[in-house]
Amino acid sequence: MSKRILVTGGAGFISSNVVRHLLANTPHEVVSLDALTYAGSLANLADVMSHERLSFVHGDIRDVDLVRRVVAEVDVIVNAAAESHVEKSIQEGASEFVTTNVEGTQILLDAIRETPVERFLLISSSEVYGTAEHDPMDEEHPLNPRSPYAATKAGGDRLAYSYAVTYDMPIVIVRPFNNYGPRQHPEKVVPRFIIQALQGDALTIHGDGHASRDWLWVDDHAEALKTLIDAPIGPLAGEVVNLATGVDISVSDIAALVLDTVGNPAASVEYVDERPGQVDRHIGSVDKMERLTGWRARTSFAEGLERTVAWYRENEVWWRELLQRAERVFSS
Ligand SMILES: NC(=O)c1ccc[n+]([C@@H]2O[C@H](COP(=O)([O-])OP(=O)(O)OC[C@H]3O[C@@H](n4cnc5c(N)ncnc54)[C@H](O)[C@@H]3O)[C@@H](O)[C@H]2O)c1
Repeated sequence: MSKRILVTGGAGFISSNVVRHLLANTPHEVVSLDALTYAGSLANLADVMSHERLSFVHGDIRDVDLVRRVVAEVDVIVNAAAESHVEKSIQEGASEFVTTNVEGTQILLDAIRETPVERFLLISSSEVYGTAEHDPMDEEHPLNPRSPYAATKAGGDRLAYSYAVTYDMPIVIVRPFNNYGPRQHPEKVVPRFIIQALQGDALTIHGDGHASRDWLWVDDHAEALKTLIDAPIGPLAGEVVNLATGVDISVSDIAALVLDTVGNPAASVEYVDERPGQVDRHIGSVDKMERLTGWRARTSFAEGLERTVAWYRENEVWWRELLQRAERVFSS
């Protein structure tokens, strides 16, 4: 049966890929709500903007009246709107992170208390765990957020949980590990490395490069969210689920793989000072998501990286425009 799905942050990296995936693989109508901050762009939705099942609302999840109106018209909410950059939260302060990631979530949650929905997926983050105390990290791992960004994601995550248990609401807390793929802002490490390699520059690695993450191909993420939208809500309500691959890759290995995939002999690797707020090792347990829904990520990093490099090669205008708008990206 066709549903109306609100995807907040729908012009950002992950959400624009989720919107595209839902339009292509479901009969559902999709409403994309986005404030179009520096991180969001309608260029990310250009190929689907005129799709008959997509509508776009330019607005802010902190706008109580707008959120109430939009929420009253939908069956499912995927809240992915966020201030999403760890370093920005450290360098520029946490204010926008608190208001969007925590208060924005609260405004959406209060809106569904007024007009209930069939389900609400809160996109949290593996960053809420901090550095792995044991691995793979399952959903019971302690929450030790190490940056203001991560702390605000933990705030939204726990707020959503409290509404699920207090008001018995159909809320699922989703903790994706690191995503990569087309349309990711050049401030993030994989596109930054790809662009540096394409330009024949040095790929700058902070610290000694041993820090590792669990890398999820963005379309696998979109498929996982579709699975969570389609699955019976009973076993999922009030639950936290990781979206991960169960494999971790170090920053140095990513740099080497990018150099290999891009194949530009002028590019090299340069080690620079470590940054604060970083987690050391992240590897996600995939068991709970598989047990509850049967979903498992299926794209290897090598395969996903090849597709991602091809996309950045073909979409130079897209990333050059973002680089011009955000000079700090490569200086950070
Ligand atoms: N990228 C990752 O690796 C990753 C990993 C785990 C979790 N997440 C989470 O997934 C979600 C999407 O991440 P992303 O990497 O696509 O981020 P992104 O920065 O590319 O996109 C965020 C989008 O949210 C919009 N936005 C920001 N503030 C808003 C507000 N107040 N109201 C409405 N829209 C607003 C921006 O305009 C942008 O389009 C975020 O919640 C992030 O915390 C991301």
